[in-house]
Amino acid sequence: MASELNIQISVDVLEPQELTAEEQQAMQLAQEAAVDAYAPYSNFLVGAALVLEDGTMFKGSNQENAAYPSGLCAERTALFALSAHHPRAKIKLLAVTARRRQEQEFLPAMPCGACRQVMAEYEYKQREPIPVLLQAADGKFYRFKSVTDLLPFQFTPDNL
Ligand code: THU
Repeated sequence: MASELNIQISVDVLEPQELTAEEQQAMQLAQEAAVDAYAPYSNFLVGAALVLEDGTMFKGSNQENAAYPSGLCAERTALFALSAHHPRAKIKLLAVTARRRQEQEFLPAMPCGACRQVMAEYEYKQREPIPVLLQAADGKFYRFKSVTDLLPFQFTPDNL
């Protein structure tokens, strides 16, 4: 008989006041980053913030293009820019939020599959988990301890 593998994923569901001071700052930076998004086609503004080991923060936003597939999500914009500027930096938090241009409310920011794959690469590279903090519905937040929880069964350099 076929055996079954059950994967358990644990996610903290948090109210704003339950975020640490650093997480609140990171989410604030992600909100600011969203304002800078270049998203004239979707008007869906996404902001990402990275907190580095020494507390430095780095931000990114989605960058769209008239040739739609040439655009890039906020998460990858932030991660690639960080890796290009500070190739040895260790990430201790990634925060993501989103909103529609004409609305003030922040919306659930669930990273797309390609962004999860890129997060997995940098987590593998730094040999330490990257906690991910996502804006969730109703002003709440999801905190994942590791990219592995966002992308189980991931393809890594070990698979090559
Ligand atoms: N987007 C992100 O920036 N991150 C995601 O994980 C999902 C989608 C952007 C891409 C595009 O500019 C807009 O949101 C609408 O898909």
